[in-house]
Amino acid sequence: MDIAVRDLAKAYAGRDVLSGVNFNAAPGERLLLLGPSGSGKSTLLNCLCGLQRPDHGVVTLDGATMVSSRSTTAADTLRRRHFGIVFQTLRLVSALSLRANLTLAQKLQTGSTDKPAIDRMLDRLGIVHRADARPHQLSQGEAQRAAIARALVVRPAILVADEPTSALDHGNATRVAALLIELAEETGATLIVATHDDRLRPHFPRTLTLQEGQLAV
Ligand SMILES: Nc1ncnc2c1ncn2[C@@H]1O[C@H](COP(=O)(O)OP(=O)(O)OP(=O)(O)O)[C@@H](O)[C@H]1O
Ligand SMILES: [Mg+2]
Repeated sequence: MDIAVRDLAKAYAGRDVLSGVNFNAAPGERLLLLGPSGSGKSTLLNCLCGLQRPDHGVVTLDGATMVSSRSTTAADTLRRRHFGIVFQTLRLVSALSLRANLTLAQKLQTGSTDKPAIDRMLDRLGIVHRADARPHQLSQGEAQRAAIARALVVRPAILVADEPTSALDHGNATRVAALLIELAEETGATLIVATHDDRLRPHFPRTLTLQEGQLAV
């Protein structure tokens, strides 16, 4: 799906974090959003998915408004249908095992579950042996891979990942980046990754950098 961000602005308590942000991502495109800590990467991704309401501007999906300053209601349905999201803070459900976290995501997002697909996804991320563990029993890197598995298991059209390699050592960061790309390519998903981790740069044909609330290409 075509996703377009037009003139997006967001301030917190009168302080501009984003101002006049514009970009497009074509179906299947891979985009890296770089910027130092505090530059507004998470704010931009949250607005993009309709989890936060921008002060100004719109996000469109195939030309139809998904997010605007007026409402994010349409976004809730579209996000569920088309997006997989890896949150910076992961947001795994602490009362549930990894397998149950993925099952719940599938059920909520697609209306049905596919158990073999869940175990295959956990296996590809190297954590199927931890499928019955709860999030607090995982290492940070395992939890990060679980959050990635949960986002991918619904085969989203658009995969948004906020610092998906922050807890990973060099080897795992490279492996996870390669896997994100491989899986996005397999399903034709658009991949938008935000990070301050320069190690990911070589994996992405297109990089946008957030500086003082705006994007430098
Ligand atoms: N809910 C909020 N209320 C007030 N200020 C906020 C809020 N959320 C974020 N900010 C501020 O907005 C700025 C951008 O935050 P954001 O989390 O988007 O940055 P980031 O680029 O994702 O940073 P990091 O790389 O550390 O994750 C920061 O200065 C932050 O302190
Ligand atoms: Mg962030």
